[in-house]
Amino acid sequence: MERTVVLIKPDGLQRGLVGEIMHRFERKGMKLVGIKMIRLTDEILDNWYAHHKDKPFFATLKSFMEWTPVVAMVWEGIEAIAAVRKIVGITKAREAEAGSVRGDFGMSGSQNIIHASDSPESAEKELGLIFNGDEIFEYDSATDFLIYSKEEL
Ligand code: CMP
Repeated sequence: MERTVVLIKPDGLQRGLVGEIMHRFERKGMKLVGIKMIRLTDEILDNWYAHHKDKPFFATLKSFMEWTPVVAMVWEGIEAIAAVRKIVGITKAREAEAGSVRGDFGMSGSQNIIHASDSPESAEKELGLIFNGDEIFEYDSATDFLIYSKEEL
């Protein structure tokens, strides 16, 4: 099983999309193992977006992400990182596939509603920046046998 970090960004929160977005991951068969609301700080964002620090949009991106709290979640599943990114859609929302979160609800390449980890390394780093160990839960999923075959499990 793989874990991936999803953030509902300030625009997603303000637009009342939290329930809609969570519903999509639940219906897909992903398992929620962590969730919290958090106000991101300069320190977290400098680390989170270290790979963007020389980009011209870095300061705007940081102030946008600090505008309101975000909703942070950890979802678990087989190949969860790729599965979640398909549900999220590409960065530039106006070009994202219809049916994805960004494709259905967004028009912007910066105010694009949601973030999802892009690799196992990012997922581990992002999880560590936002969640404490006791905020990630291990529990039996009563529906795993319906969502996956015996061979997959
Ligand atoms: P995400 O892919 O989640 O992580 C990097 C974020 O930077 C991206 O979403 C956008 O919110 C933001 N971003 C990417 N490109 C631009 C851009 N050209 N201008 C402003 N923000 C951007």
